[in-house]
Amino acid sequence: MPHTPDVCPSVNVFEHRLAAGLEGRRAASLYRQRLTLDSPQGPVVRLKGRDFLNFCSNDYLGLASHPQLMASMRAGVERYGVGSGASHLVCGHSTAHRELEEALADFTGRPRALLFGSGFAANTGTLSALLQRGDTVLQDRLNHASLLDGGLHSGARLQRFAHNDLAALERKLEQVPAAALVVVDGVFSMDGDVAPLAALAQLTRQRQAWLMVDDAHGFGVLGKRGIGSTEAAGLGVGDVPVLMATLGKALGTAGAFVAGSEDLIEFLLQEARNYVYSTAMPSAVAVAGKTALQLLHSESWRRSYVLELVARFRRGAGQLGLPLLDVGGPIQPLLVGDAGRALALSQNLKRRGVLAGAIRPPTVPANTSRLRITFSAAHSESQVDALLAALEACWSTDV
Ligand SMILES: Cc1ncc(COP(=O)(O)O)c(C=O)c1O
Repeated sequence: MPHTPDVCPSVNVFEHRLAAGLEGRRAASLYRQRLTLDSPQGPVVRLKGRDFLNFCSNDYLGLASHPQLMASMRAGVERYGVGSGASHLVCGHSTAHRELEEALADFTGRPRALLFGSGFAANTGTLSALLQRGDTVLQDRLNHASLLDGGLHSGARLQRFAHNDLAALERKLEQVPAAALVVVDGVFSMDGDVAPLAALAQLTRQRQAWLMVDDAHGFGVLGKRGIGSTEAAGLGVGDVPVLMATLGKALGTAGAFVAGSEDLIEFLLQEARNYVYSTAMPSAVAVAGKTALQLLHSESWRRSYVLELVARFRRGAGQLGLPLLDVGGPIQPLLVGDAGRALALSQNLKRRGVLAGAIRPPTVPANTSRLRITFSAAHSESQVDALLAALEACWSTDV
C-alpha cells in the first residue's frame, strides 16, 4: 500500500514556511532589505545614481577606502594573488597572515593571535572549541548573536544575565559548580555602551572563571593607542584571557582575530572547526590589515576627531530633544520603540538623502527598535549638521 501523507501533497511544508515567514516579517515591519552600494564605503555613498550621507557603517575611523590601505591591498594582490586557495592548515597560510598575527599579538600585548575569516566565525569557533558539555557559559543579554550561537553550539549550559548587571552575574556565578566562561561585548553593538570590564575581570578572577571579550566595536577606537575596551579599562591577558576583535569595522578591512596565551591559540588552531575547515582569508586582506594597524598609530587623530563629531551631534540632538542614550562613542542609537515607526523614520531620512539604519527585533529586544546612527572620522562637521537638520525635519512628522 503506498504511504498517504498527512498533509495535502500540493502544499510543501518548506514552501509554506518560507511564504509565511516572509509575510510575517512584512506584516510586523521586520522585513530587511539590502542597500546596494555603487561606490566605495565612506561618508557619502552612491545608490542607484544618487549620493547619500552615510551614518550607518561601522567604518568608525574612515579607513575602509583610505588610499594607503587600498594601495596596500593592491600590493598584496600583486604579491600573493587573489584567493588563498586552501585552509590555513593545508596550504592557505602565507607570510602575510603570519606577519599580521604577529603584529596583532604585539599590538594587543598578548603572546599570540589567530586570524579568522570573520568575527562571526571567530566567536562561534572559539566558544565551540573552548567549552565542553558540563561547563557553563554566562552571557550578557545584549551580547552579539555570534556569541550566543557559539555558546549554544558548544553544548555548555548557557545562562544569560541582565545587561551590564554585575550583581546578577555574581548570583549566577555562585551557583556554577564547574568551569565557567563569562562572555561580553566590550562595546555593545546596538547600544554603544561599554561593559564594566574592570569589575568583570575582578569578579571572574575571584570565581576562578574566565572572561572573554568581543571587542568588535572597541578595537581601533577606544584606549590611548586604540587597542580597545581592554586598554581603556587597563586590563591585560591575565584579566581577559580571551580577546576577540574584528578587522572589518574600525580597521576598515575584513576578518577577525582571537588573541591570548600560547596554549589558547595553539588549542584553537587545532580544534576550532571554523578555523580548521575554512579557507584562509585572502593574503592581500592580511597585508591591508597590517597597514591598518600602522595607520592606527600614524593617524591617531582619527580616534579623537570621531569623538569630536559625536560630541557635536549630541549637543545638537540634545537641543532638538532627541532621545539620546547616555553613551559617548561612535555608536549613537536614537531609541524609537515601535518597529514600524523606526522603519518609517529611516525611510523618511533616506528620502532626504541620509542613511541611518532602523534596527528592529530580533536584533534588539521587542519595543526597543531604534535608529542606529554611527559616526566616522571621514565625516565632516557640516555632514553632522546636515544629519541633525534631516532628523529635525522628519522626527516630529513621523511621531
Ligand atoms: C559585537 C560583534 N561581534 C561580532 C561581529 C561579527 O563580526 P564580522 O562582521 O567580522 O563577522 C559583529 C559584527 O557585526 C559584532 O557587532
